[in-house]
Amino acid sequence: MGTMLARFVAMALPLAGCCETTHHTALVDLEGRPITEPVGGDAGTSDAAAAGALDCQALCLQPIIGRCLSWEIESCERADPAGGAVTCRYVDTQCPDILPLPRTVCGRRTHGAGPATALGDDALGRALAHMAALEAASIPAFARLARELAAHHAPLSLIRAAERARRDEVRHAATMRGLAQARGGSVGRVTGRAVRGVRPLAELAIENAREGCVRETWGAAVARFQAAGAADPALRRAMGVSARDEARHAALAWRVHRWALSRLDEPARRECARALRDEAASLRRELDGCFDDATARALGVPTGAAARALASAIDGALWGRA
Ligand SMILES: [Fe+2]
Ligand SMILES: [Fe+2]
Repeated sequence: MGTMLARFVAMALPLAGCCETTHHTALVDLEGRPITEPVGGDAGTSDAAAAGALDCQALCLQPIIGRCLSWEIESCERADPAGGAVTCRYVDTQCPDILPLPRTVCGRRTHGAGPATALGDDALGRALAHMAALEAASIPAFARLARELAAHHAPLSLIRAAERARRDEVRHAATMRGLAQARGGSVGRVTGRAVRGVRPLAELAIENAREGCVRETWGAAVARFQAAGAADPALRRAMGVSARDEARHAALAWRVHRWALSRLDEPARRECARALRDEAASLRRELDGCFDDATARALGVPTGAAARALASAIDGALWGRA
């Protein structure tokens, strides 16, 4: 990861000239669940030996879900050899002419599988590569959703819809990868541990609330903006297809939400409602920091007041009512 990060920063610097780098750390447990929020400050030196075989990409992803794509996982190490905590180190490289896209412009992710790395000399190519990476990360997320819905005896219509969504994401990832490559962007493999096993329904429902009801609903709305407003006709066409599919994925998330709530007890239902509210709040916090850039305009994503108005409209219609 350090090598990849060094390449990212090395490519960014000549483009921008005045990039500003800040470091942050957060504590997670051995399952990657955040213990603390990322806090700024000198990251100090990383002890590679202490890191051992830790999968930093998988362990350290959760605390930065919702952050701009300028955040990268730098390293991780055991906070206490006898304990259950891992210190994750992050670097945030803000460059005036490099788009800090939100992490979930379009894409559903699942705990334990991180998005692929995205590289490229061209800021737009790299932004497209980030989008392709998020699409690729949605593939294991829907595969897992379908498998876990089946294990929890969900209606067949939900399982089939999740399988169809996985196939959609395979196409989205390939299309976005092609658009990124045409602009010099490149995408690595989806990172992280294989996501096996079946989680309790409450855990599935909370992830679905965050990644589906909030993030895919937002992604579907943004995709509609891009289908109308992206500068490149090929991107407009791709986002037109994506907007239709993502709207279906968002609707699936809400169907899964309603079905799961009907099966869960009151404390678990409250947890789901809290997760949904927290994720919507997290998304709203991203808007000011991520949507005011020339590359965002090239992509056709809503910026500034338009983004806030869109989030408010969705909040009033969906998130705030759930
Ligand atoms: Fe997608
Ligand atoms: Fe999707």
